[in-house]
Amino acid sequence: MKVLVIGSGGREHALVWKIAQSPMVDEIFCIPGNGGIAGIAECVEINQSDHNAIARFAKRNSIDLTVVGPEAPLAGGIADVFAERGLRIFGPSAKAAKIEGSKSFAKQIMKKYGVPTGQAELFTNYEDAIAYLKAAKAPYVIKADGLAAGKGVIIANNLDQAKDAVKACLVDKQFGEAGKRVIIEEYLEGQELSILAFSDGKTVLPMVPAQDYKRVYDNDEGLNTGGMGSYSPVPIVTSKLYDEVVDKVLNPTIKGLAAEGVQYRGVIYAGLMITEEGPKVLEFNARFGDPETQAILPRLKSDIMEPMLAVADGDLCCIELKWTDDVCVTVVLASGGYPGSYETDYEIFGLSEAGAIRGVNIFHAGTKLNNGKIVTSGGRVLNVSALGKNFAQAREKAYKAVSKIQFENMHFRKDIALRAIGS
Ligand code: AMP
Ligand code: GLY
Repeated sequence: MKVLVIGSGGREHALVWKIAQSPMVDEIFCIPGNGGIAGIAECVEINQSDHNAIARFAKRNSIDLTVVGPEAPLAGGIADVFAERGLRIFGPSAKAAKIEGSKSFAKQIMKKYGVPTGQAELFTNYEDAIAYLKAAKAPYVIKADGLAAGKGVIIANNLDQAKDAVKACLVDKQFGEAGKRVIIEEYLEGQELSILAFSDGKTVLPMVPAQDYKRVYDNDEGLNTGGMGSYSPVPIVTSKLYDEVVDKVLNPTIKGLAAEGVQYRGVIYAGLMITEEGPKVLEFNARFGDPETQAILPRLKSDIMEPMLAVADGDLCCIELKWTDDVCVTVVLASGGYPGSYETDYEIFGLSEAGAIRGVNIFHAGTKLNNGKIVTSGGRVLNVSALGKNFAQAREKAYKAVSKIQFENMHFRKDIALRAIGS
């Protein structure tokens, strides 16, 4: 079979790496890919938002399955373009991807189908939003309704900050279309957790849980990022809690969407807060998480093509997933300055030595090949994923591998999975 993967990050490198292990797969293409993906797939330069050009490429090259990594092409309807042309794709339609692309749509579905989430109100008018804030209590959670590349959520500790956040969205239009509507949400306390599942619109097949580290510095300090590390499984997740998420969050959401005439085919990602009252949804994503995927896929023993093909064909009911008991820790190596401005084009050293450590995989995120050398090309540069018998061992391997890698201004968190040790 021939497989095409869309995207250029660490998530896509992990996907390509796992797909390449399938005995069903002969050839993999990636649009556009990165310096690491180039080692296992043929990277092709086509604009990710030109869905017709991507579909033509898939047709011309007899691609059997196209797998979409990031949210933007999904929200833009790439799955619909492929479906119209009879091409097989893994990823939800634009209507289904609204579960990520419109926070108010997600809230409506959750409310209607009884999925636990924080109380929230939607505003388009600045004065109304400010009046609501004045009657609410700190901390305030303000979210742009649409896709804002992970930057559309502001947690404000006082009323002035909260007003500024509302102004930035509704008056200054800092997030463009995405911020024309804002959600003001109840602040939820607890530990965060990500549970991803395959879904064909009828059956939900959950994956092992993972935890993401969003802040740039140790001890969860500094700005929010795309994710500075992850680990799987998550010791706070008992089988009771896991079942609760499947029964009260994932199943009712997929069934609720189906009842609305929306068949959800792809990965659904529930971002949850484990509160004293139980798990509550912070957000849904319509795709694999980054960097959660880099800690989840190394634990998957099954052939990933089986659930992916079954999702695309709508017959997921008979598929089972097998996982190793080994745990996985993923440390993100970022360019100094990220998530603010940073420099690129620095040569990366030590990759082969780091990758030679048993149980370690290096997934590239922001890298490219330049005259035969791998250089930095983004904010998040590499993901170092290590499997181990327990979190202490996996952490030791991951950080040993990290110590072999060097590039100018490299920054990483030193506390990834520390809280999972001893559990
Ligand atoms: P989201 O993109 O909605 O997941 O929000 C990004 C991050 O903001 C989450 O991972 C949480 O750390 C935080 N966050 C979002 N909503 C809330 C909330 N209602 N209460 C507390 N923290 C939140
Ligand atoms: N790790 C967060 C995300 O993928 O959105």
